[in-house]
Amino acid sequence: MKGPVLEVRDLHVWFDGPGGRDVHAVRGVSFDVRPGDRLALVGESGCGKTTTVLAVLGLLGAAASVSGSVRVDGQEVLPGGDAAMAPYRWGDLSIVFQGALNALNPVRTVGSQIAEVLPRDRRVSRRAALRQAGELLERVGMAARNVARYPHELSGGMRQRACIAMALAGEPRVLFADEPTTALDVVVQAQILELLDRLADELGLAVVLISHDLGLVGQLCDRAMVMYAGRAVEEGPTVGLYTAPRHPYTRLLYEATPVLGAERPLRSIGGGPPALDVPLAGCAFRSRCPDTEDRCSLTEPALTPVAPARRAACHLTGRTP
Ligand SMILES: Nc1ncnc2c1ncn2[C@@H]1O[C@H](COP(=O)(O)OP(=O)(O)OP(=O)(O)O)[C@@H](O)[C@H]1O
Ligand SMILES: [Mg+2]
Repeated sequence: MKGPVLEVRDLHVWFDGPGGRDVHAVRGVSFDVRPGDRLALVGESGCGKTTTVLAVLGLLGAAASVSGSVRVDGQEVLPGGDAAMAPYRWGDLSIVFQGALNALNPVRTVGSQIAEVLPRDRRVSRRAALRQAGELLERVGMAARNVARYPHELSGGMRQRACIAMALAGEPRVLFADEPTTALDVVVQAQILELLDRLADELGLAVVLISHDLGLVGQLCDRAMVMYAGRAVEEGPTVGLYTAPRHPYTRLLYEATPVLGAERPLRSIGGGPPALDVPLAGCAFRSRCPDTEDRCSLTEPALTPVAPARRAACHLTGRTP
């Protein structure tokens, strides 16, 4: 097996919060990404998915404090701050930002926006840059002539493809796709996932899909990390997460996910995630958990192996079916 392109260890992120109370948005996240991987970061809104990825890319800026370790090809980059990440950003690690398809500049053609993000050494002339932009559009399943069109002339699915083309401009080895199918209909959602899958095959690209939808990630990813309140609560092959979830949050998240043809009632998860601007005592999920014991309010469970390639952070995991 090839070594990891990216190794993230014990990543923490704090934001300056109102009234001087820091928001501890990411609390000790670790994961590896290898060439060709299809990894998912899953969890409900506010659990820290986007913050994790922006911290890895060095894009959080001065409002955040980040600690831990981020290695690209074994090279530690985190202590140098955002600037140390710059040589790896876009060329090694790239991202399709959450909501990117709505952030295209409406008064500029798609081609000129893609040309702008081409690496400087490849921007020889405007004509050559537009030709390269057209090639990138073809790579994501669009005709090259779309370089001359404006965002409003494209469907939502085509705009998202254009955003993926932009993210590929630096020939990255890892592509983070942050909620790339939100706001798209189910048919187009499936097409975007197929595209990411094909790109992973054709380019040997690793894809990290960020989503709140456990059902969706199963269509693309072989491995997932389920996040809750800034931490990983379960991780392992996606198949096992559905058939035998070992953390109650994973089970409830799956039961709250509509799956076509599944003969089961849809249940919502009561309550909400804890505030992250006060220290957490015990398990962060315990106020919403159906199976708690005294020790759940005393110590936060560590992520521990529960089966081959599976880890879960639950005091009761050994007894959870
Ligand atoms: N710039 C910021 N300043 C302060 N707090 C922030 C900032 N950005 C994010 N947060 C907080 O960090 C936590 C994690 O947010 P994040 O956007 O990473 O969640 P997410 O899992 O990507 O959610 P979603 O599914 O809604 O995109 C939230 O509590 C959020 O309010
Ligand atoms: Mg997000």
